[in-house]
Amino acid sequence: MGGMERSVEPELMDDPLQARAYAAADFDRSDQAFTERFLALLGLPFPRPRPVGDGGGEALGPGSPLDDGIVDLGCGPGNISFRLARALPQAKVLGLDGAATMVALAQERRQRHLGEWPQLRFEQVRLPLTLTTTRKEVTSPGGAPVEALGGPFAAVVSNSLLHHLHDPLVLWQAVGQLAAPGATVYIKDLRRPASAAEADALTERYAAGAPAVLRRDFRASLAAAFTAAEVQAQLAQASKLGKAAGSMGAAWSGFTVAEVDDRYLEIHGRWLG
Ligand SMILES: C[S@@+](CC[C@H](N)C(=O)[O-])C[C@H]1O[C@@H](n2cnc3c(N)ncnc32)[C@H](O)[C@@H]1O
Repeated sequence: MGGMERSVEPELMDDPLQARAYAAADFDRSDQAFTERFLALLGLPFPRPRPVGDGGGEALGPGSPLDDGIVDLGCGPGNISFRLARALPQAKVLGLDGAATMVALAQERRQRHLGEWPQLRFEQVRLPLTLTTTRKEVTSPGGAPVEALGGPFAAVVSNSLLHHLHDPLVLWQAVGQLAAPGATVYIKDLRRPASAAEADALTERYAAGAPAVLRRDFRASLAAAFTAAEVQAQLAQASKLGKAAGSMGAAWSGFTVAEVDDRYLEIHGRWLG
């Protein structure tokens, strides 16, 4: 059998040293690329135009595609959530992460500029959300129903969560539970290289100058990531499970799975379920 076998890492980033190193790292380019791509998928330009004489950013207006808010799954210290809240000041943004340490770091950042982020919230929620009989009763293990979280959401995004999940279907199930009909879904992650040698080369190329803990994490993340073919199979499986549960089985069929650059995967589409 060819290729590099998947080897998982711990799901939650709860170790304070690891979480602090992650929060202090410079992911500027990839975080910016994520934000711009998401806005492009929404059909919005970047940077967002500001009306003359108003310091607060452009209102999206009633009936905007984001009236129902954006949820950022596995938000970590909030890198993507803060960027989305800044780019779309009228949109409610909710960051969810299962790691108390990460949520505390995100809250700390938010509180440093209290009042600046009225539309941005963070909650500690570990996926999977528990699915009971009706949408109203979809709860997290902590008991938060989708409505209590502010959902269903007009957009569901996630950066670098998928490779952490031991069971990847947990992500696709959560998207189906949290997305409103017509929601924009944008997921990005690393993809697993074809060989250990390629993983070493990517680590050398992109993390040579980083602290040891981040270099180790990057190499481990590459090994834990999925290939495009594996994600396609996950979506097919999610469709099958959705059909068996009586929801729209075809919900995933229009999604695009694409390789981006030398190390990423992106998955996007409109949730029809
Ligand atoms: C590599 S970080 C990415 C953080 C952030 N999205 C970003 O772009 O910087 C992955 C995050 O997923 C969280 N995570 C992993 N498994 C999770 C689960 N089952 N439920 C919720 N969060 C989870 C981890 O705690 C960690 O903060």
